Amino acid sequence: MKILMVTAEALPFAKSGGLADAVSSLSKALADNGHEVKVIMPRYYRINKDKLTLLEGPMGVPSSYGETWTAVYTTDVETSKGNKVNYYFLDCEKYYGRDGIYGTASEPDFNDNPTRFSLLAQASFQLCRKLNWYPDIIHSHDWSAALTPVLLKFYERKKKEFAHTASVFTIHNLGYQGIYNKSHFPATNVEWLYYYSAGFEYYDNINFLKAGIQSSDFITTVSPTYANEIQTPGMGFTLDSLLRYRKDDLQGILNGIDTDVWNPETDKYIPKNFTSEKMAGKAACKKALQERFGLEVNPNIPVVGMVTRFADQKGIAEVFAPTYGCAYAMCKDMNIQFVILGSGEKWCEAEVGSLQSKLPNLRAYFGYSEEISHLIEAGSDFFLMPSKYEPCGSNQVYSMLYGTLPIVRATGGLADTVQNYNEAKGTGTGFMLNDLTPQSVYDTVGWAVFAYYNKKDDIKKMQKVAMKQDFTWTKSAKEFEEVYKKALKKI
Ligand code: ADP
Ligand code: GLC
Repeated sequence: MKILMVTAEALPFAKSGGLADAVSSLSKALADNGHEVKVIMPRYYRINKDKLTLLEGPMGVPSSYGETWTAVYTTDVETSKGNKVNYYFLDCEKYYGRDGIYGTASEPDFNDNPTRFSLLAQASFQLCRKLNWYPDIIHSHDWSAALTPVLLKFYERKKKEFAHTASVFTIHNLGYQGIYNKSHFPATNVEWLYYYSAGFEYYDNINFLKAGIQSSDFITTVSPTYANEIQTPGMGFTLDSLLRYRKDDLQGILNGIDTDVWNPETDKYIPKNFTSEKMAGKAACKKALQERFGLEVNPNIPVVGMVTRFADQKGIAEVFAPTYGCAYAMCKDMNIQFVILGSGEKWCEAEVGSLQSKLPNLRAYFGYSEEISHLIEAGSDFFLMPSKYEPCGSNQVYSMLYGTLPIVRATGGLADTVQNYNEAKGTGTGFMLNDLTPQSVYDTVGWAVFAYYNKKDDIKKMQKVAMKQDFTWTKSAKEFEEVYKKALKKI
């Protein structure tokens, strides 16, 4: 099949979270299964154009404000099996010539985002024309690419080139919907006549994600549990009734991971590699982690790691909020070391900074660092991820593969990937809590730490089982192939 991915992020070019990992690794897996995969995304300033090839000629993209002139750069990403994914970068100084994917620290959501991401959707069709290459499937991801299925359904499919193209839309996070004032609607280049029928209408605003859900041929989300959760009023972020309405065209498919990047045996970021059979390297990584963060170097103290966006979704309030979160009591009461890598909400950075000045066993690094994230995954004993909701989650999977047992809330992809510790049998791959409160996080960390000190054989056994699991795309890529077939049958 010919597949065009439309996305705001993809590795190794631009990443703000797991979306980038998911899109690039799925694309590779599909290419390895014999499909022709192309990806279109904006060229933000952070993507160095000197390493890319410029396609000949400018590309005009129609918009209601006239025509926007863009350039297109390209490069190939090779899979470990020698297959290629073709990347295309939409270059337009006015809209993408700046730092930040969606915004910056001072302006988290650029005020022209409706125009920036409408341009991406419109350009995806123009790119196909430019390449004279017409896909069977246009697969778009999250609100920032949600206009693509709308344009396909209401305009492009009426034309010969796209008459046989179906759309698949993946929700990576229902919490970000792209809701804007109605005055931005003209940026979409969709006529007012479709304001309701395409699904934009949202309490007198426009909602890109809602339009994508309503207008695409098939919808997926990133884990089976999350697919069920989002159909409930409690977790549907106001779109649950629409998702229930479309439930026959909605499927949860668990993300796979890219084992070229996340594999303790070959990982280039960590000081020593290891496997489930040869764990000496993990001890070396723990030592390096303790040294790096200025903690007491002691192999016997359990290290609890955390790598996260500081966002409400991740349960940061229950861990760090002043007078409410459990981090202070945890570090005071338990003989642990707590290592945090994160950035995001300013109150949280300030609070973690203040905890750090009070607690010798809590250390943090603020900012984004690929290298430190690998070191934390490799060197920690436990990984804390008490998310309020988690569509799929990547870090709990990376943790397990590195023998770092996750402590997670039983929600979304966390529930689908981690098996709770069963003390009677000594089985499991992690530790789970149900209701998210500071007390439940404290208790579950305490439970894991108790096992670390008193059930050493169980911990060793759990690490081995966790590390040997298969989280590659093999199964999920096949499920996508089935979804693509279902979408094609709809047109
Ligand atoms: P989400 O996409 O909701 O943030 P995921 O768990 O799917 O959640 O993916 C998060 C990804 O971003 C992981 O690969 C994680 O390692 C990475 N990440 C998050 N914060 C940082 C950071 N400060 N530095 C490096 N990597 C980070
Ligand atoms: C989103 C979700 C996360 C998921 C990622 C990739 O950012 O928050 O749970 O793993 O997308 O699908």
